[in-house]
Amino acid sequence: MVNIFFKTYGCQANIADSEGLISYLQDLGCTYVRSAEEADLIMVNTCAIRAKAEQKMFTYLGEIAKLTKARPHVRIGVIGCVASYRSKELYKRFSHVNFVFGAREDIRAFHSYLMDVITSLETIKQHYADNMGNVPRPGQDGNIKKLVESKKLAGKTIRFKPGEIAYNMRKVHQQSKGPLEVQKSYINIMTGCNNYCSYCIVPFTRGREQSYSIKYIVDRVAREVTQGAKEVNLIGQNVNSYSDPDDGRSFSQLLEAVAQLPGEFWVRYVSPHPKDITIDVVETMAKYPEKLCDWVHLPLQAGSNTILEAMKRPYTVKRYMEVVGWIRKHMPKATITTDIIVGFPGENQEDYEGTRAVMEDVQYDHIFSFIYSPRKYTTAYKLGDPCPPEVKQQRLMALQKRQKEICLVRNKRLEGSIQRVLVEKRQASGKLLGRTSGNIRVNFDGDDALIGTFTQVQIDRAGIANLEGLLLHKTAEDNLANTQITR
Ligand code: 5AD
Ligand code: SF4
Repeated sequence: MVNIFFKTYGCQANIADSEGLISYLQDLGCTYVRSAEEADLIMVNTCAIRAKAEQKMFTYLGEIAKLTKARPHVRIGVIGCVASYRSKELYKRFSHVNFVFGAREDIRAFHSYLMDVITSLETIKQHYADNMGNVPRPGQDGNIKKLVESKKLAGKTIRFKPGEIAYNMRKVHQQSKGPLEVQKSYINIMTGCNNYCSYCIVPFTRGREQSYSIKYIVDRVAREVTQGAKEVNLIGQNVNSYSDPDDGRSFSQLLEAVAQLPGEFWVRYVSPHPKDITIDVVETMAKYPEKLCDWVHLPLQAGSNTILEAMKRPYTVKRYMEVVGWIRKHMPKATITTDIIVGFPGENQEDYEGTRAVMEDVQYDHIFSFIYSPRKYTTAYKLGDPCPPEVKQQRLMALQKRQKEICLVRNKRLEGSIQRVLVEKRQASGKLLGRTSGNIRVNFDGDDALIGTFTQVQIDRAGIANLEGLLLHKTAEDNLANTQITR
């Protein structure tokens, strides 16, 4: 039996890709293990969004080189966004990396290749069962697509429709870090991005937009829910560009189709684009509150029209605030979160204050804030990085400090309320961790049996990042007996 381990960096699209591949490999008989040390096949799924993310991954790749000393048969692969554009360098710099496969390459070729890798690992493990230290170290496989085309691989090629990936054979995979965790499902509803925001490398690493059909997505959600998933995450770089390849149905129609599925589960999605989001998305969310979570992640990036234009984000602060207005009107309890970049080339104090002003106006429940990182190939790259590092750092710190205060005020509003939470896992502190529909963490005491169920918690204390509460139903059975939803 072949043991596999994935180290996944980056966004939810990467998580969804890793999950798809893990399922594919499990269907081939592989076992997912909890550490790279136990694995025969290690896959590193990489993120290129900022230089820091890449560096972290490079460090990890360096560290795992030692694992091939005692266990030379181990295969190491690098996949994802960095693999898309730095494959030659990865091969050159890390002689222990056996294969590199980018996020925009033909997944069918990769499946064939992996089938071959697994067959070969199984054979090696049988032959050398008593002396794995004697296995010769395999070399580097170069261009995987060419290899698959040129060589007769040991495994049979499986044919998928384009974009279908391995989902049709996917079993819900419990990639749990602890003994027991709620099942969440990550489903790519589209890949790629056509926006070319001037700072962003994603269109280069993931290619052009491609949507999957509603029929296929709905089937997949239904199957995963039947198999125990309680939270379904629909992933796309710009979900509002979603268009069913069969009949052109829109993202809100996709949301509606998913929301109409039977079963007790929550649906979240990332990310909409402020330029493209339409009011019907918000109306649909408001129409199906039991399924579609009370949370909108609406990336702002900058609160200055000048910077938004330089970023090639074709919306204004006014338009952004109009969208926020729709959410506040139709979903008054919704949480709103965002992404913000500070220190984009040309950002002056006034521009930065514009971002701060939007933060005050929106009152976000959480922000993901980043220092601008110049990325090769992007149009902003040629602008250099003129904002001094200490200014960027200072802007980031000040913004994060203020956001903490806002989070506290937002969370305090929930004190005394009863929240429906999905119980995720037991934490090291001994408390259960749940999340509200608005994606706010809730700590409370309760039985393990509650993990993976929805329950009601009375909130008695709010902090910056967590709520503390009291369980209203003591067991999973009590819980089932009371399915009433409090929002
Ligand atoms: N530098 C800093 N942050 C970036 N992001 C994307 N590209 C960059 C970059 N070059 C941020 C954006 C995006 C989030 C996923 O990452 O805020 O929404
Ligand atoms: Fe990058 Fe912009 Fe596409 Fe988001 S919308 S992935 S920031 S290019």
